[in-house]
Amino acid sequence: MVKKKVVLAYSGGLDTSMMLKWIQAEYGMDVISCIMDVGQQTDLKEVEEKAWSLGVLNHYTFDGKEEFAREYVFPAVKANALYMGTYPVSSSLSRPLIAKKVVEVAEMEDADAVAHGCTGKGNDQVRFDLTFKALNPGLQIIAPVREWKFDRNGQIEWAKEHGIPIPVTVDSPYSVDQNLWGRSIEGGILEHPDQMVPDEGVWEWTVDIEDAPDVPEYVKIGFHEGVPSSIDGEDTGPVEILQLLNKKGGEHGIGRIEHMEDRVVGLKTRETYEIPAAEIIINAHQDLEKMVLTKHQKAFKFQVEHTWASIVYQGLWIDPFKQDLDAFIDSTQQNVTGVVTMKLFKGAAKPVARESPFSLYDYNLASFDINTHYDQGDAVGFINLWGLPSVSAWNLKRKIADEGIPELKKKVVPVPTGDS
Ligand code: ARG
Repeated sequence: MVKKKVVLAYSGGLDTSMMLKWIQAEYGMDVISCIMDVGQQTDLKEVEEKAWSLGVLNHYTFDGKEEFAREYVFPAVKANALYMGTYPVSSSLSRPLIAKKVVEVAEMEDADAVAHGCTGKGNDQVRFDLTFKALNPGLQIIAPVREWKFDRNGQIEWAKEHGIPIPVTVDSPYSVDQNLWGRSIEGGILEHPDQMVPDEGVWEWTVDIEDAPDVPEYVKIGFHEGVPSSIDGEDTGPVEILQLLNKKGGEHGIGRIEHMEDRVVGLKTRETYEIPAAEIIINAHQDLEKMVLTKHQKAFKFQVEHTWASIVYQGLWIDPFKQDLDAFIDSTQQNVTGVVTMKLFKGAAKPVARESPFSLYDYNLASFDINTHYDQGDAVGFINLWGLPSVSAWNLKRKIADEGIPELKKKVVPVPTGDS
């Protein structure tokens, strides 16, 4: 009988390495592993060798950095996407791309199933499963971590028995997921939100603010139609921009976050992130938008941004609703072109100067110094009409205080009850 085939989203870590063997043993399937580089900084050659050594039928490595930056991160920039006002949805963005690639491989290899290493408690399973189901409902989904009943020690035992190399990082109590848009650290002591994040062992991309340089650094970020396109006047590719700003920001202690988060599966968790580039870019982008969008565009977009971030966080990247939101957001971005100077200093990334060919700011109108076609006399009539509803309410309030509630001219006649 021909063995069934499953394509596994492989990371090279302990969970997905175990899954490689587990699926072969428990499901009797052949495993094809697939890893996509979204900027997680793992040694892909090593991952591939590990996969072969664990007996895969085939292995694929993809460089998805450019696609991830352009097609996933940049829409999030346009949307100023911050889930619960804080988290730039970094892990949430990578899942639909990885899942899409896994489905492509499954179709190419004529596989029967796809597999991922997510637990049953997280958001990532939702993102993977829904993308799989939307793109190819015929594929069986296998998620061993949701099925097996191992604790950490049992898992290590099983791994040893089956000749799976235990990575040195297994001593680290943390589950880390990283890509070009951010680094997420979960588990261990971090699961106690009443305890401060320990000084050692959690942060890798950012320095403590106390150790950040005592002099600020300025960086000019150029935007073209809503997405970053240059650094200090040099045209720079999407991947390089993200890498560069993660580095610069990290050196100044920018983008350390920890907050309480509402997961899609109903849990509240404490989440910890390092997101230097995201913090710098979103702050700059929001600032430029304040210069080029009308106040009505900005006000409505603010609501759309909130919805966009929630939808993406909750695994609905593939929902047509997201495309609808994108259409509105894209339309607002046509004039979001210009340069913002950012000051990086002691954990903060602040816009300090900005310019744009589409600026709606008009010095001649705004300046205190110049007498222009802005007729200050117009303001008087405007204020009368603008404030009319509010002033009317105050007038009535005063009248009632003086004279009591006015009698109605016509008495209200009670509706006959039919009893009489
Ligand atoms: N809480 C974040 C999210 O749901 C981060 C998830 C990180 N995933 C992980 N396997 N450590 O997007």
